[in-house]
Amino acid sequence: MRLTLDSELGKQEALVLGAFADDNDTYKSYDPELAKELAAAEKKKLFSGKFGEKYSTKLAGKDYKRVIVIGLGEKKEMNPDKLRRIIGKVVKIVRAENLASFTTNVPFMISQLKLDEETLGMVSAEGFLLANYSFDKYLADERKEKCKPLEEVSLQYGNGDAFSKGLKKGSIIAEATNFTRDLVNEPANVVNSDFIEKAAKKVAGSSDKFTLQVINKAELEKLGMNALLGVNAGSANPPKLLILKYNGGKGKPIAFVGKGITFDSGGYNIKPTKYIEDMKTDMGGTAAVLGTLKAAALLGLNQNLIGVMPLCENMVSSTAQRPGDIVKAYNGKTIEIGNTDAEGRLILADAIAYVEDKHKPEIIVDLATLTGACVVALGYYAAGMISKDDVLANDLFSAGENSGDNVWRLPFYDDYQDWMDGSISDLNNISQKGKGYEAGSITAGVFLSKFVNKARWAHLDIAGSAYWMVDGDYLGKGATGSGVRVLTYYLLNN
Ligand code: BES
Ligand code: MN
Ligand code: ZN
Repeated sequence: MRLTLDSELGKQEALVLGAFADDNDTYKSYDPELAKELAAAEKKKLFSGKFGEKYSTKLAGKDYKRVIVIGLGEKKEMNPDKLRRIIGKVVKIVRAENLASFTTNVPFMISQLKLDEETLGMVSAEGFLLANYSFDKYLADERKEKCKPLEEVSLQYGNGDAFSKGLKKGSIIAEATNFTRDLVNEPANVVNSDFIEKAAKKVAGSSDKFTLQVINKAELEKLGMNALLGVNAGSANPPKLLILKYNGGKGKPIAFVGKGITFDSGGYNIKPTKYIEDMKTDMGGTAAVLGTLKAAALLGLNQNLIGVMPLCENMVSSTAQRPGDIVKAYNGKTIEIGNTDAEGRLILADAIAYVEDKHKPEIIVDLATLTGACVVALGYYAAGMISKDDVLANDLFSAGENSGDNVWRLPFYDDYQDWMDGSISDLNNISQKGKGYEAGSITAGVFLSKFVNKARWAHLDIAGSAYWMVDGDYLGKGATGSGVRVLTYYLLNN
């Protein structure tokens, strides 16, 4: 979608005007006919400017196929994420009318409230481009036609230098997020470890600041990454560990480690109906890492980053790992496989220990669709965060709030720290205390923490936030690209 800035409202198919609940001068002054119509609608209580309320009409003598007045709510309630939301609603309204473009004054109206204009530019671009996303490549044309993405939006905006700078940043972040959404929405018969390797090669080729190392099966064996190898043992697709370095500056790197299970059947502890269908999304962590590095390069960030992507498929076959097997991880710790469906932590364990050993990052943030318990606890609107580092956790929390890609910290009490200890091995991959399922997202974090040595570390469980079963204002059902926005905002601000 083209996003353009102009000092006037443009000649597009639809016109969208904003109206605050407590000040409706703007649309009233636009056109006397509209003012009359709106005054009548207000009297009949058909429109009041309440947040998200719409009034849809046509105006004689104007070229617009549709004129939409959208409620912006009370002025004092407005904030950046509400701008993303209202833009998302508008994009969906215009798309549902089957129109290809619109022009609007909404971001400009909101800029009059003295909010930071670069931020408004960023969140506007995010709202437009995230809401305009569709994963429709497998649909027949007549189905695609019904709710096509918009081709163009033109924004009426007076002197928009800071706003325009923000628009560019926000476009990069949203497009990287949509790239991640595509990877997650694609089915597992398309997205396997070879496919992700190719996608990573493309990203690596986009800037000379990138170097990509692909560690294949034979070398994983030599390195002793048996936790990762065990998970892939039942799959016909090869395991891989991708290390994508972004050499953007000086100093110790920040490592992002993303769970890359291209399909999670559960293994011999196989998942039942209702739990197995969406397990193509279990590479959401890897996809978010790749999207974040793509955004970092396009934004020209001057930090050193390492994207770590352990890729496996958790399948059933005569060669698959069994419950009760014991594997020795890269760091020498032995792990009993209490449950083959707790596979994410196994591949992350090796990936985390490896990157810390070889690259000595200052900070490690891992992202993983790790536990159903996290979906139960937090639903879709926040990732669960585990960290012992208050500064890192607070910085990530703020990045979550600012980006709308929220993270919510879970407690990491000392009482939990031995819950993953094994009886005949150093560790078990499922909790050994109580009924075994209590605090499932936290005990998964305990397991991961045993593979971190000195680095400052945070774990983001994106099991709920990466893939929505419900529609939102600017994100829809399906993959959300969770992780890309929070990490990119974190990098921009730290
Ligand atoms: N990939 C799943 C977690 C998941 C569940 C992601 C729902 C997205 C939506 C993970 O590998 C898993 O199976 N976790 C188990 C852990 C348990 C066996 C300790 C779970 O959550 O049931
Ligand atoms: Mn699993
Ligand atoms: Zn999984």
